[in-house]
Amino acid sequence: MAIMKILQYPDERLHLVASRVDAFDEGLKTTVADMLETMYAAPGIGLAATQVGIQKQIIVIDISENRDDPIVLVNPEIVSKNGKSTLEEGCLSVPGIYETVDRAENIEVRAVDENGRDFEIRAHGLLSVCIQHEIDHLKGRVFIEYLSRLKQTRILAKMKKLARERM
Ligand code: NI
Repeated sequence: MAIMKILQYPDERLHLVASRVDAFDEGLKTTVADMLETMYAAPGIGLAATQVGIQKQIIVIDISENRDDPIVLVNPEIVSKNGKSTLEEGCLSVPGIYETVDRAENIEVRAVDENGRDFEIRAHGLLSVCIQHEIDHLKGRVFIEYLSRLKQTRILAKMKKLARERM
């Protein structure tokens, strides 16, 4: 297993659209294992393949307190949603920024696990918001893009400053 580099906003690769996974092979299992390790090390509660520079529809999530209940969603699709959740969210690609964006409260998601088995999951609250956030990543969308222009400009300035400090 290996810890991968998490792309930081405004890295252009965060805007690439992921393609569906059609090979449920050892390569996929390795990617999933590496993504889980990367997410736990960060630490974070969710990570999309897009964030580690892989344009495949793969998401890993763990919202459990003990960090021992991973959820792997391959080719996820929201089949229904309702209600309105306004939980504050953050993102490993935009560290230090926490904002509320409009999300559905309840969702039903169809996905495949890393072994190629279909499953459906009903989520509400934090899990629902997390899945919606990660699916957005697969579409090349970062959560701060829902915010006002002014807020986005401020965040961009902050991220550029952080990037300079890292160099
Ligand atoms: Ni994110």
